[in-house]
Amino acid sequence: MLSSSLVRVLTLVGTLLAFLLPATSADASSPLRTHASARGKFIGAALATSPLSNETSYRNIAATEFSQVTAENAMKWDATEPSQGQFNFSGADAIVNFATQNNQQVHGHTLVWHNQTPGWVQGLSATAMRSAMQNHISQVVGRYASNATVVSWDVVNEVFDDNGNLRTSFWYNTLGQSYIADAFRAARAADSNARLCINDYNVEGINAKSTAMYNLVSSLRQQGVPVDCVGFQGHLAIQYGFPNDLQQNLQRFADLGVQVRITELDVRMQMPRDASKDATQATYYRNVVNACLNVTACAGVTIWGFTDKYSWVPDTFQGQGAALIYDENYQPKSSYNAVHDALAGGTTTDTTPPTTPGTPVAGNVTSNSAGLTWTASTDSGGSGLAGYNVYREQGATDPLGQSTTNSITLTGLSPETQYQVYVRARDGAGNLSANSPLVTFTTTAGQGGGGCTAAGTVQTQWNNGYVVQPVTVTNTGTSSMSGWTVTFTLPAGHTLTGSWNASVSVSGQTVTARNAGHNGTLAPNTGTTFGFQASRPNGNTQTPSGYTCA
Ligand code: XIL
Repeated sequence: MLSSSLVRVLTLVGTLLAFLLPATSADASSPLRTHASARGKFIGAALATSPLSNETSYRNIAATEFSQVTAENAMKWDATEPSQGQFNFSGADAIVNFATQNNQQVHGHTLVWHNQTPGWVQGLSATAMRSAMQNHISQVVGRYASNATVVSWDVVNEVFDDNGNLRTSFWYNTLGQSYIADAFRAARAADSNARLCINDYNVEGINAKSTAMYNLVSSLRQQGVPVDCVGFQGHLAIQYGFPNDLQQNLQRFADLGVQVRITELDVRMQMPRDASKDATQATYYRNVVNACLNVTACAGVTIWGFTDKYSWVPDTFQGQGAALIYDENYQPKSSYNAVHDALAGGTTTDTTPPTTPGTPVAGNVTSNSAGLTWTASTDSGGSGLAGYNVYREQGATDPLGQSTTNSITLTGLSPETQYQVYVRARDGAGNLSANSPLVTFTTTAGQGGGGCTAAGTVQTQWNNGYVVQPVTVTNTGTSSMSGWTVTFTLPAGHTLTGSWNASVSVSGQTVTARNAGHNGTLAPNTGTTFGFQASRPNGNTQTPSGYTCA
């Protein structure tokens, strides 16, 4: 029996909950910022000053949907200090005032960058450049230091090259690496409360660049340099694949004790836009928001704009666009619903399954693996297409494999075995499509005593390069191997720029990778990995193929 004092406590808790809940709960139709706040995160957008002062629809969406804003250009050096000592805060103030009126926070972007910085800065001597940098930071940060709306700054932006070396910008070439620590110290001196961030692109996954960033942040903090936060820009493209280790990467930075955030999210596609590309894009948006939700130290997600009417993408990436969550007419796209439903968590109302995938086509069938490709599904229920499950048995609940794209390499298959498999599409709310038609294939004979396989995974890619990591090398035979040779083909025009954990030679487009000293010995059913990086012509989206192992 409940004691009467316990009943009283429970009643009090119930009353408190009833009182508190309306303030924190968000129904399905609430704007993004309501749901984000309920999850303890911000949802932000970059704003451009001209539509902000000229277009009601732009202003209304910016005000109602987002809890944080970033000036897309108005706080950059060329806007705030076009000539030395002549500061102009008109654009910056317009954004800050708008945010204050709408109860939003401002993330300041950006203090020290190699782009959008006037020529007068770039030509200075080392001593003059260092003091110009310190003065700029002190004036710009100082202007908003006592303004509660401006809460954080990108102190340095894009200091790395894609290979993880420090970018040889005019900052680095004139001042050396010390400009980074000096910039953070100057920002802290100008505002002791603002959160100070380092920001970059192509650091969403675990790769050479993000690892260099990780090492720099760790060492700066060890030296007492006030780096509070790491910004992952998140300029993604559906044709380059989703960085599936995003959450893991955010978490490793969080474990250093810094706050993390997605600062410039957009997901571009090759134009023209279509329903299937929109569905894939929605998945990317949802996955990014979920990664942030799953990492406690992730403060929030900022989208780089919100309407396709004003996006930097078409001007920057030829033939690409439609990267944002509203179309040119301010209509929300599937990607808006994906962000909304991810932030809303359990309150999603999507009960419509995706369309049925096409018949899978099998290729590259070996003794223990097979490649499958099928026509993609679409999802109209709002939560967006999340991926595909591949099953062997009719009615099975455990998939043989899962993929976020409309293809997969099934591994761990048995030799000389007939497989009959089908695919079901999955949406963000967990609805599964009907079964695709079946495909039947038979794995080849095992290789008896010897044999090995190799397969490469593109870990990260950018406009003109990529990292393949890992290339897995597996001894599929029954006896131990004392060395291995993997070959693969680079598409025309691609050039190998680095490799690790293997000794590599290139002849034409054929790459031969032999084991390194430490990873040649492989017992049966064990494997090892190596990796490489390559460059390719701008805009080329091909990746290497034809991995063989002997
Ligand atoms: C872009 C703006 O969106 C464009 O309007 C401008 O012409 C160029 O800069 N990384 C950054 C942002 O940190 O400042 C850039 O913004 C996009 C890439």
